[in-house]
Amino acid sequence: MTNNATRHGTSSDLLAQAHELIGVALRDTEQVFLKELESREPFVREVLGHLMTYRGKRLRPMLLLLSAQAAGGIQHGHPVLAAVVEMIHTATLVHDDVLDDATTRRHVATVNSRWSNETSVLMGDYLFTHAFHLTSTLGSAEACRLIGRATNIVCEGEMAQVSERGNLHLTEERYLEIIEAKTAELCAVSCYLGGKFAGATQAQCDALDGYGRDLGIAFQIADDLLDVVGNEAQTGKTLGSDIQKQKLTLPILHILSQAPAGEAARLRELLGQPDGQTRAALQPALQRYEAIPYARQRALDYIVAARQRLAIFPDSPAKQLLEDMADRVTDRTA
Ligand code: IPE
Ligand code: IPE
Ligand code: MG
Ligand code: MG
Repeated sequence: MTNNATRHGTSSDLLAQAHELIGVALRDTEQVFLKELESREPFVREVLGHLMTYRGKRLRPMLLLLSAQAAGGIQHGHPVLAAVVEMIHTATLVHDDVLDDATTRRHVATVNSRWSNETSVLMGDYLFTHAFHLTSTLGSAEACRLIGRATNIVCEGEMAQVSERGNLHLTEERYLEIIEAKTAELCAVSCYLGGKFAGATQAQCDALDGYGRDLGIAFQIADDLLDVVGNEAQTGKTLGSDIQKQKLTLPILHILSQAPAGEAARLRELLGQPDGQTRAALQPALQRYEAIPYARQRALDYIVAARQRLAIFPDSPAKQLLEDMADRVTDRTA
């Protein structure tokens, strides 16, 4: 067990606590999610059925509902919003697997590998448009605006990442900008909306946005570590695609910045022509320059910041769980 696990309980403890606190709303969220996506078209039903084979972690719905609970209590609109953010997340995954040529997601074949890129593009669109349709049922222009804007920023992040593919001189600053947009924005808006629809003050909503943003950045740094050193059987998804697609992430940026010029040039040559051996070939440099502990520490810095944002809220079991979730995101294995 890691230190964190000793101090804060294991992931399954955390899940059990979350289900105790927001289990009813999480179940409502699942129902809203499935109901919204119902289709008479057999092929849509088939692909959706496949996507539902293995559930993801439901991180964003949990963030939204716990934020609501910490900020005053879960209301009628919260499960709808929680379903919306999970739908947007699922859409981005379906599209992302095309970008990454990934074959496995959530322990099953990706839509692109089981069917085709065409099917993935359209299925992602189906999910995005249902998310916006579902948001509109709340009759809140603000919710529509916030969901629309956040999704827009996520797409910009993915576009930025595509445009930086193969840039072997990417800066850490640019890397952080990309992951804030593609991943942290949706976590931020989840927490913000949770608070907003619970009647939180503007200062509390802004604090929740900051918490979700910092947690999201840490979460993506941890995910990028898994891409470099993780285990496919445990994560249930294709790994190594960041290296294959020449998307430089924090541990790689670190070795490039630490290695002397000659070695850095050789590493760039390796990264510029990736093949099946590249991930393994990078391991000695990752070890030598302690790139994994470095990236982990950077993620931990964001976690500390995320937890501090919650100081504005009175103590409660929901606030405690938000703090514990922040602690857990950096030692993910899946
Ligand atoms: C995967 O997100 C994509 C990233 C932002 C790293 P999750 O790890 O939350 O995916 P699921 O929903 O649990 O499968
Ligand atoms: C997450 O980045 C992309 C999105 C925000 C959709 P990754 O490409 O690292 O996610 P995984 O590793 O495929 O889940
Ligand atoms: Mg990917
Ligand atoms: Mg990844």
